[in-house]
Amino acid sequence: MCGIIGYIGNKNATNIVVEGLKRLEYRGYDSWGIALKNGEIKLIKEVGKISKFSGGQDLEKSNMAIGHTRWATHGGVTKENSHPHTSCDGKIAVVHNGIIENFKELKKELETNHKFKSETDTEVIPHLIEENINLGFEEAVKKAVSRIKGRYAILVMNADSNKLIAIRRGSPLIVGINNDEKFIASDIPAFLNHTKEVMYLDDNEMVVIDCELKFFNLKDGSKINKRRITIDWDASQAEKGDHPYFVIKEIMEQKDTIARAVNQKDKEIIKIANEINKAYGTFFTGCGTAGKVCRIGEYIFSKVANKHINFTVSSEFPNYQHFLTNKTLMIAISQSGETADVMEAVEVAKKKGVKIISLVNVMGSSLQRASDHAFMINAGPEKAVASTKVTTAQIAIITLLAYATAGKLKEGKQLLMNTASQVNDMLNPRYEQHVMKLAEKIKDSNNIYILGRSLNYPLAQEAAIKIMELSYIHAQGFAGGEMKHGPLALIEKNSPVITLVGNDESKEEIISNTMEAKSRGAYIIGISPENNDIFNYWIKVPDAGNASPIVNLIPIQILAYHLAILRGCDPDYCRNLSKSVTVK
Ligand code: F6R
Repeated sequence: MCGIIGYIGNKNATNIVVEGLKRLEYRGYDSWGIALKNGEIKLIKEVGKISKFSGGQDLEKSNMAIGHTRWATHGGVTKENSHPHTSCDGKIAVVHNGIIENFKELKKELETNHKFKSETDTEVIPHLIEENINLGFEEAVKKAVSRIKGRYAILVMNADSNKLIAIRRGSPLIVGINNDEKFIASDIPAFLNHTKEVMYLDDNEMVVIDCELKFFNLKDGSKINKRRITIDWDASQAEKGDHPYFVIKEIMEQKDTIARAVNQKDKEIIKIANEINKAYGTFFTGCGTAGKVCRIGEYIFSKVANKHINFTVSSEFPNYQHFLTNKTLMIAISQSGETADVMEAVEVAKKKGVKIISLVNVMGSSLQRASDHAFMINAGPEKAVASTKVTTAQIAIITLLAYATAGKLKEGKQLLMNTASQVNDMLNPRYEQHVMKLAEKIKDSNNIYILGRSLNYPLAQEAAIKIMELSYIHAQGFAGGEMKHGPLALIEKNSPVITLVGNDESKEEIISNTMEAKSRGAYIIGISPENNDIFNYWIKVPDAGNASPIVNLIPIQILAYHLAILRGCDPDYCRNLSKSVTVK
């Protein structure tokens, strides 16, 4: 949520920051702004997406700049509310990601001496720094952050200093180093084309950046020695390549991301499987799509490993803390590893002595570092707001873990490697065209219903998320058996109903439930290994056994993408949503 970048070095900082913001746009795209330093601080702010801005080359050159792409929380989408925000004298510029919870009290106090220009919570920060600037830049920043409450990342520039200062408290910040050039950003792809050498800031840490880097612990003021890490992502992985949008590129990357995810070390999988077998109570937690993966995991563990694992959506997890002991295990699933609701659930659990296992895609993320063991999803950067390749990779790892917990790791690996190769075969232009034809038929629908049973019930809910966020068509996923308990009332002539069929014991029942909708006039789309008379449109999927949620999700992702294109929606930037949700 919101992207931050800063640069100091001998290249043109203005261009580097504009370019970095374009790469961070998936974190927020309401408005953007930069502050560059050429003696004094100059601001450039615009409403809308930075990718639509073509004037980067004409902007004034500088050796130091900061930038921000916004996902609005406090204050509407206006130029005034876009970042950077400045002090009264215009010498302090701040970009911020997160929320300042006590900004109202601070603003009231500051308003007697300071003139505010925006409605944002952020603007209190430059004014707080200005209050104490006579103590020196570093001290003034420290004093300011000692007054603010909340989860955030802040980057500050001062017209009278050659340093940038950044603070992390709950929202990500990573430093990039390329000899004398220094970068700081909310996410690595912002500077990946310049360097792979990074240092991660932890919570309650501050970094002072000029030709050197100085890290401090904000709790006791001590200096910290940071480890330099070389990351193994490739800059081209974070680009669209030959594809028109990131989301279709990422859908196609599933040709090899599933196999990569399954390629975990046996020793580690077995170790965690043993922990699950020993634990008194295991909780899955995650949000949105990752939450649906957890629910698929619930079914898989029950079916394959005979184990009941509880799922609680992360924002509700704190309500379950009364059941936690030091024998409980938490399995947290998150692409970004930065989702605030997930991190809060983890904090609550850790306070009760719960062991944290995670599935995470972003190396060095807060979740990875807060975990006792983290499985890396290894899908490479996922830039489109809607999760696709990471979802199937997460389902694959959870399935593998369930098999390992049942003492059948080899069988699980074999199943998933077969599934990976089946997905590889599915992702061909002919298959895409067949799904596209369906998108043309149903693109003007107001509602789409998706039915599933067993493993495919949570998948139906995930399918609904994908269709809604990409095409803005209202979609809802139901357990097939629930239709007759209410949702059938919604079915009219030609209502599109997608039925997700797996080749398992639920096969016949889901067909009966689908028949109930067909009898009320629904237009039935079957996603199934076998055709059936009741389908008006059949999308064939391979028989993947217990991995059927993976193969069934592929046509849904392609359908959601083509619905978005046909309806004129931008499939990379879902309206009102952000990739990394770092606010509660
Ligand atoms: C939907 C989607 C979101 C995320 C959710 C959690 O396509 O991507 O629902 O799954 O915001 O994000 P992470 O996985 O980063 O914790």
